[in-house]
Amino acid sequence: MTARPMTGASPPDDDQDAVGRRAASRAADDSGDAARTTHFGFRDVPESEKAARVHGVFTSVASRYDIMNDVMSAGVHRLWKDAMIDWLAPRPGQRLLDVAGGTGDVAFRFLARAPGSHATVLDLTQPMLEEGRRRAEAARLAGRLAWVTGDAMALPFADDSFDAYTIGFGIRNVTRIEDALSEARRVLRPGGRLMVLEFSRIPVPALQWAYDRYSFNVIPAMGQAIAGDRDSYQYLVESIRRFPDQEAFAGMIRAAGFDLVRFRNLTLGVAALHSGWKL
Ligand SMILES: C[S@@+](CC[C@H](N)C(=O)[O-])C[C@H]1O[C@@H](n2cnc3c(N)ncnc32)[C@H](O)[C@@H]1O
Repeated sequence: MTARPMTGASPPDDDQDAVGRRAASRAADDSGDAARTTHFGFRDVPESEKAARVHGVFTSVASRYDIMNDVMSAGVHRLWKDAMIDWLAPRPGQRLLDVAGGTGDVAFRFLARAPGSHATVLDLTQPMLEEGRRRAEAARLAGRLAWVTGDAMALPFADDSFDAYTIGFGIRNVTRIEDALSEARRVLRPGGRLMVLEFSRIPVPALQWAYDRYSFNVIPAMGQAIAGDRDSYQYLVESIRRFPDQEAFAGMIRAAGFDLVRFRNLTLGVAALHSGWKL
């Protein structure tokens, strides 16, 4: 695996967060159309602003991110991440790129399943990675991990570098999902696999309605009570509603050139796993 000089495993005393902010704005500039808009939750914003807003949300929630995940999902996010790694079925010695890897939940599970494997965790938000790095040191996994600040839409790695690419609850935050999928395919080796875990749609309208009531009424209030931050959690629930449903997202993965694209619903479709191969 080769990282372009722009970044690399981030030394703790570096201002790598500035790297993340620059990466985000460079990727936005590269769109060639500063006037294009996208959504940030339920609001429309210029594409060039979205990454900075997302960065602000995750900077704000980083120190409480793990505990909030457990509280909001009653621990179920752990089962979903286990299911992701079950389906991925890591093998010894494999190289994983975990994009939007945050505090490392997906990467840690991968390493635990595959002796001699290595994981690179890339994220836009340095404070999320710092939380992950602390956890890795406590779990004595630091030697098998690299932490890289960067943008899913412009990965700082050579073509064909990784055996597996994962992204857990990250892709809905990315400004141009098509660009992230195209980058995922580029950095995977032929025969490599993409695995996406994301919130999705419950195909039973009455259940989706009940789940929406929970999301919009309870989660921002919990965010306020536990993390002192209602707005970030309001964004999180809105961003879930804006993300394409299972079939539409599978179509985007196929359009990016992946083969054998499949999905599995988790907890009735509250979340879904999507898998695709670079053949
Ligand atoms: C909800 S957290 C998920 C963290 C972790 N994967 C997990 O499942 O617990 C979303 C993460 O996506 C990151 N993120 C958002 N947009 C990104 C982008 N364009 N490139 C890389 N990371 C991004 C955020 O900084 C945040 O850490």
